[in-house]
Amino acid sequence: MEYNAALRTFDCDPTLTDSQVLDFCSQGFLLLPGAVPDEINRRTCSYLEGKIPINPSYIPEGLTRADLERIRATHEPSTIFLEDWFIEQVLLNPALAGVMRSLLGPNVGLPVLASHHRVECPAQPQGWHHDADHLFGPELHFVEVFYFPQDTPPELGPTELVPGTHLFPSRREPGEKGVLAEGPAGTLGIHHQSILHRRGSSTATGLRHMLKYNYWRTAPPKRDWVREPDFDFRRAYYGGHNTARYAAHMFYWLCGQADHFRIIGGQAWPWSSVNQIGPSYGYGSKEGYLPDWRKNNQDGYAVP
Ligand SMILES: [Fe+2]
Repeated sequence: MEYNAALRTFDCDPTLTDSQVLDFCSQGFLLLPGAVPDEINRRTCSYLEGKIPINPSYIPEGLTRADLERIRATHEPSTIFLEDWFIEQVLLNPALAGVMRSLLGPNVGLPVLASHHRVECPAQPQGWHHDADHLFGPELHFVEVFYFPQDTPPELGPTELVPGTHLFPSRREPGEKGVLAEGPAGTLGIHHQSILHRRGSSTATGLRHMLKYNYWRTAPPKRDWVREPDFDFRRAYYGGHNTARYAAHMFYWLCGQADHFRIIGGQAWPWSSVNQIGPSYGYGSKEGYLPDWRKNNQDGYAVP
């Protein structure tokens, strides 16, 4: 692990394989249950509840200690990113760092803004929503994290997500369920910022903290995660109808190959079925279309 405190970036070995990176492209999230040590989880809760003083490793240019005291007391307590113990044990958590290095390339930029979602349980669920300012597209310039510093079983209303909904606008009725980002204290949820989600309903009594923040890309994308010797771009499973094309486009963008991505539609690559007797046609096509991320065309394809 190389941490550059001056630039607030880090580098380390990537941990995700081709298949796991493609899985993130199609699902839009992954979960690291209990990744942060208990002592740090307890200290985070104390910090968020104002029970311990701030101890910033430095005061950023343009800010004063009084500014930091003010920021710490808001719903965006970004000053926690200046605490050495939080940087070492949460921001640079080895399991998380390996994932971020895989998805965002070398010299990953650390978060600058924290969002503190504090809920007195029990509480009704939120409505399903895509967060403000979400963007649908093949690019992955940043990745979002949820950090739950206390045990967060279903009864305490963990975040609920719908896999695959980071690819296009989605709606859900309040009664429809998703996947819960539940887990013991120290659970880190990693997801595409555009994914459909809500705070789940809670039935237990108590305080639920959750911190949300983004890691940032600083280098152009290329396929420098853990390569699988037998990974086959032609035969890989990219997803079902109306989704495979988006996941494949994102995967090609991450490989630094977006300029070579064209699709011809129908049963052609990147779509496939387990019941076909040969690989899909259309792989490597020089002519064709791109997925219509802006939804401007009736058939869902955009002219390159
Ligand atoms: Fe949200």
